[in-house]
Amino acid sequence: KEKKLWGGRFSGDTAPLVERYTCSVGFDSRLHAQDIDGSRAHASMLARQGIISQSECDAIHQGLEQIRGEIADGTFVWRQDLEDVHMNIEQRLTEIVGTPGQKLHTGRSRNDQVALDFRLFVGACLDEWAANLRGLIGVLALRAEEHHDVLLPGCTHFQPAQPVSLAQHLLAYAQMFRRDHDRIRDALARTRISPLGAAALAGTTHPLDPGQVASSLGLGGTFANSMDAVSDRDFVLEATFCGSLVMMHLSRLCEEIIIWANPQFGFVRLPDAYSTGSSIMPQKKNPDVAELMRGKTGRVYGDLMALLTLMKGLPMAYNRDMQEDKEPFLDTHDTVAPSLSIMAGMLSELGFNRERMRLALKAGFLNATELADYLAAKGVPFRQAHHITGAAVAFAEQNGIGLEDLNITQLQRFSADIGEDVFAVLDYDNAVARRHVPGGTGPDSVKSQIEDLSSWLDAT
Ligand code: ARG
Repeated sequence: KEKKLWGGRFSGDTAPLVERYTCSVGFDSRLHAQDIDGSRAHASMLARQGIISQSECDAIHQGLEQIRGEIADGTFVWRQDLEDVHMNIEQRLTEIVGTPGQKLHTGRSRNDQVALDFRLFVGACLDEWAANLRGLIGVLALRAEEHHDVLLPGCTHFQPAQPVSLAQHLLAYAQMFRRDHDRIRDALARTRISPLGAAALAGTTHPLDPGQVASSLGLGGTFANSMDAVSDRDFVLEATFCGSLVMMHLSRLCEEIIIWANPQFGFVRLPDAYSTGSSIMPQKKNPDVAELMRGKTGRVYGDLMALLTLMKGLPMAYNRDMQEDKEPFLDTHDTVAPSLSIMAGMLSELGFNRERMRLALKAGFLNATELADYLAAKGVPFRQAHHITGAAVAFAEQNGIGLEDLNITQLQRFSADIGEDVFAVLDYDNAVARRHVPGGTGPDSVKSQIEDLSSWLDAT
């Protein structure tokens, strides 16, 4: 039986159950591209520093590219007995190129190698999330622009509060996703750091040039402390937290879509491509996609909690516990990336029912604040104006009508300060149109919010 790469001091074999238990190649093989890129950069630096020859470096590069091809066409054989992606690739490299392959690991440990590979991998995922967020924000801005004149009840406590434009409602989500995007960019700066040169934990006696490796990989910098470099997983946690917030924002939007699609609301029609039917009830069109996305948010929170718990209490420096950092993050990535694309697709095809939204406006006395503000503007102290309006609402409610349906005599019974000009104030469109405050639901504010988002999208 063949010796392990680390088998020099061992005489017995690993127990088969232990081999399966410690093996990570089933999931860390997904880091193969990063492992190859990192090894290429390390070999080039070894050659430039005169630690290996240029022809040895060329052989390593050519062998690594052959492996990249074998993995791509499915002929590469992943071996469980070789534990992880790093040793599988190194072993195959030595099979292909011989001695130069055995020199590749000079001044390097799997501890810094895995940290590098994972930093590159997480960085690529964050880039993908950022691009998907950009796409989603673009769709929200577009749908907002199309629906700038559509009004619906804005809620607090999920009770009808004041009329808002559908654009304003959609743009609220655009702002959440924009902050998610900015947060990801901040996290990327801390992720894109090279730990190569830290070796196992203490640095190395070989004359390595970590800066050269970092810049050839397009990374922003190198480690300040070798022990931190091999044992820090903040970048995974930060990325998973960014993913958790993205999912939380998506989940809130899903919840609204689910409610709006209920026929009692009827605010939206789900696109066929993004909904499913029932196996028993022929009339059903279910918002399963939005429900699943809301549900999958829970697993991403679970991933974050798993990683936080994994890292607590680990002494310096590398500990094998840290191999458990891959699966939660991979699960998060496999959830966040498609959720963002699916939400963008679903939103761009979602049908909005402006008539149903307008009907709902009538139902909840959404213009009550307008009447109170009208009286306050006429000099009635706001607390009194609030009471007067409350009494008018109670009266209208008993009669099953809206405030705007009361005639002037009825209204003046509540306050002599009410004049004919009140009806313009009670108008729902006016209520929205008069909200000029920056960031408010007024059309001029909505227009400048969309302009601001468009220039942000152009600049990012
Ligand atoms: N598969 C390991 C991991 O993911 C690689 C590093 C292992 N290092 C070690 N000395 N056993 O963390």
